[in-house]
Amino acid sequence: MLNEERTFVAIKPDGVERGLIGEILTRFEKKGFKILALKLLEVTDNQAAMHYEEHYGKPFYARLVKYITSGPIVAMVVKGYNAVESVRHIVGATNPLNADVGTIRADYAQVMEYNVIHASDSLKSAEREISIYFNKNEIVDNWKNMAEEIIENEELL
Ligand code: CMP
Repeated sequence: MLNEERTFVAIKPDGVERGLIGEILTRFEKKGFKILALKLLEVTDNQAAMHYEEHYGKPFYARLVKYITSGPIVAMVVKGYNAVESVRHIVGATNPLNADVGTIRADYAQVMEYNVIHASDSLKSAEREISIYFNKNEIVDNWKNMAEEIIENEELL
């Protein structure tokens, strides 16, 4: 079943520093996903704590927060059919060693702690994470991209 969904994606500091912004955005655009919001920002300690609250207390938590606040990230809201699951297929497994060939993490990362990109793992997380990084007025959905028009016109829904 096709469900229109929005999800949160962030290119992490290692991805930004390595000049991968364009490569990564291209993958989502070519898939036909619509970018509803996009910005480069420095994550505050407060945003990092909210984003990673489920990992609080884990042995890697302090390193995780240090890393995500170490340089700018590129945050975005991505919309498309079954976007949460579909984006995670493109991103690949959390540990790049287990990521399928052709995914972003398989292609650009070696270790779990510097895995280049984050993508929400559920619709609930997506809405929570979007609200950490974006105000409502920064999300622009009053336009149609080509993939949306084609699918709507074919009456596949
Ligand atoms: P991400 O899925 O973006 O969000 C949580 C991050 O925590 C994950 O990417 C990894 O970068 C990191 N992470 C998850 N599990 C571990 C772990 N066992 N050791 C170190 N880092 C981890």
